[in-house]
Amino acid sequence: MSLQRGRAFADDDETQIDRSIFSDPVLYRQEIGRVFARSWLFLAHESQFHKPGDFHSTYMGTDPVIVVRQKDGSYKVLLNSCRHRGMRVCRYDSGNAKAFTCSYHGWAYATDGSLLSVPDETAAYGEGLDHSAWGLATAPRVETYKGLIFATWDPEIPPLVEYLGDFTYYLDVLVDPDEEGCSVATGVHRWRMQGNWKLAAEQFAGDMYHAASTHLSAFIAEAPHSKGIRPPERGFQAGVDGGHGLGGYAAYPYWQSQGFSPEVEDWMGAFWERAAQRLGRARTTDAVFIHGTCFPNLSLLFNRWHLRVWHPKGPDSMEVHSWSLLPNSAPPAVRRALLLDYQRHFSASGTWEQDDSEQWNYSTNSNDGFITAKLPLHYGMGAGRGPNKGFPEFPGTVDTVYSEINQRGFYRRWSELMAVPHPAEPTTGEAPVTGSAKAVIA
Ligand code: FES
Ligand SMILES: [Fe+2]
Repeated sequence: MSLQRGRAFADDDETQIDRSIFSDPVLYRQEIGRVFARSWLFLAHESQFHKPGDFHSTYMGTDPVIVVRQKDGSYKVLLNSCRHRGMRVCRYDSGNAKAFTCSYHGWAYATDGSLLSVPDETAAYGEGLDHSAWGLATAPRVETYKGLIFATWDPEIPPLVEYLGDFTYYLDVLVDPDEEGCSVATGVHRWRMQGNWKLAAEQFAGDMYHAASTHLSAFIAEAPHSKGIRPPERGFQAGVDGGHGLGGYAAYPYWQSQGFSPEVEDWMGAFWERAAQRLGRARTTDAVFIHGTCFPNLSLLFNRWHLRVWHPKGPDSMEVHSWSLLPNSAPPAVRRALLLDYQRHFSASGTWEQDDSEQWNYSTNSNDGFITAKLPLHYGMGAGRGPNKGFPEFPGTVDTVYSEINQRGFYRRWSELMAVPHPAEPTTGEAPVTGSAKAVIA
């Protein structure tokens, strides 16, 4: 077995994974630059913004950022770190601001990041402070896809729609199902959990195998209102270029097994018929999408109307930001039912959420042992199997439910990015990334 630093796979067939990618602090620092600073990162949904100065705080990799709506309706993404001593200039999750004034010494920045004023400037600096050189750093590229706001630190990256590629065929089912669009319900849930972020992202990309075991107690608890409706035998995992992946089943009326009222069930049936008119039947009424991940850290639960981001907080920790994204065409009673359904299952205290997070926590912990770290992990499910011909219209590579094709695609993309040092990294040794930020934000 050859453990090659920076490459996820421990074998030439790419069916085994080197466990150090879940625990090694040097690899962790490298992936913040090589993976996160070179990818399009999802930050917020446009429905969270209504007027100039509306903002939303989040992260790009480990960097705190503020997404701010500008007067012309565009968005700027500001690095949330004062140029004086680094204090966060905004300590709120969201709101509206005319300026961002640092609480430490009072430097104030406009909503486009430019330095507006400095207290006692003449006494402190004379004429020596060039405002144009000391504004907040801004992400060089910000683009949207059907309401989803993404940004990147990489000025050379392909346009967002190209980066998403064939994943848009699947993503549209969540974000563009009918002519009325969708919007974020209430706010954004944020919580921290133990575990390496990749275990969460890869599970959402391609793991339906875990459900029967991990969520058994939840299945049993929900049995009274499931009416015996189970997913069909036939399903799929679909992976597309760029490390993105998702999975689902052949069509079945999943909304009739959630304990919804007849009003909600009727609305759902009609909704999917409308979606079929807009998007075609193959991805609406002939299939049910369940889970997915847009590389690197945006994950989706299609059947729970849900988006989430896994923000890395060290090799063994992550911060989850979680949105309930509901169709605007849904009447209030339906929106409330869908919101409660999401919260019951996948909020911080949701039953399924707790099931999953327990697995990521203990897997991360045990992968970091002295002996366990030497043993590769099995990622070979479905390797060498022919394509699943049951979903002929689906783009990408399609396999059955019992496949780790998407996890392998995720780590293939991760390895490609990790193979090339980021220009802001130190040029020698394996010290943490502390190089000049100029290469990142230029
Ligand atoms: S750290 Fe912001 S003004 Fe000093
Ligand atoms: Fe799960």
